[in-house]
Order: sequence, then C-alpha cells, then structure tokens
Amino acid sequence: MGGGGVVEAVSSRRELDLAGLGEEGARLWRELPRGAVVWLSGELGAGKTALVQAVTEAAHAEHARSPTFALVHEYASPEGRIAHVDCYRLRRPEEARDLDLGTLARRSRLMFIEWPERAGSAAPAPDRHLRLAHTTRDDHRVLEDVK
Ligand SMILES: Nc1ncnc2c1ncn2[C@@H]1O[C@H](COP(=O)(O)OP(=O)(O)O)[C@@H](O)[C@H]1O
Ligand SMILES: [Mg+2]
Repeated sequence: MGGGGVVEAVSSRRELDLAGLGEEGARLWRELPRGAVVWLSGELGAGKTALVQAVTEAAHAEHARSPTFALVHEYASPEGRIAHVDCYRLRRPEEARDLDLGTLARRSRLMFIEWPERAGSAAPAPDRHLRLAHTTRDDHRVLEDVK
C-alpha cells in the first residue's frame, strides 16, 4: 500500500497443517465440476497424495493410497469415480499415451494427476493446477495455485 507502483499478484498461497489440508480437500470436492482435471505438482512428500486422500474422504469414496507402483487408481464415490494418476515413474511422456488419460478424465467425476510434467502432452489440460511444498515445519505445507 506504499504507493510504490508494485502490484502484487493476488496470492492463493496458504500454509496448511494436516487438518487444513483436509478442509482444502473438502472444498475442492464441493467446488470442482464434474469432469474437472487437477494437476498436483511438488516434490516427494509434499502432500499431493495426502490431498487426494482428503478429497476421497470428503467424497465418501474408497480411501486412496499412493499409486506410485500402479500408475492409475480409481475410487468409487456416490457421485462417480475419482481417478488418481501418478506419473512419477514414467521415464518418457510416450509411456503415458497408453493410459488414455483423456478418456479416463471424461468418465470420472474428478481426476487428479501427480507429476503431470512427466506425462507431457498425454496429460489432459488442467482446470486447476496446484503446487504443494514443504515448509520449515514438518507438519505444515504450502499450497498454491499455479497460474
Ligand atoms: N500439512 C500437511 N499437508 C500434507 N501432508 C502432510 C502435512 N503434514 C504432514 N504431512 C504428511 O506428509 C506426507 C506427505 O506424503 P504424500 O502425500 O505421499 O506426498 P506426495 O504424494 O506429495 O509425494 C504424509 O505422510 C502426510 O501425512
Ligand atoms: Mg504421491
């Protein structure tokens, strides 16, 4: 407000504990329309899978586990499927083509993609792109919208 002419971008950067992450998951479940695709970026342990778990809990869907060894997991909710894709183990984007993620997105109530960068153009375009990061506190994470 100092009149210096610098306009800061509106920041959706929030620091969350695990309970806050749970609330964020419930909010995403309420707000995201059918068929929405959410990209989740951030280093290992940043909380991407934990956020998906929060959404599946809010959705009363089968509990999600890390799909690191199986690229795609789907969870049944009363409103439809939640697809959870983890591209961490992809070595080349070409490996993602067989997954047909576009079709999976269209038949899902909601789709989350961890490590979308590794799927290249095989990852459907995101309706939301979120990034999680560690903080100096073990039990806190930063969540921000990637523009
Ligand atoms: N505020 C928090 N938000 C998200 N995860 C947290 C938080 N505090 C602690 N954790 C823990 O950090 C770990 C995050 O792991 P995970 O979600 O598998 O990371 P990623 O999928 O990004 O590799 C979980 O064990 C989770 O319980
Ligand atoms: Mg994960």
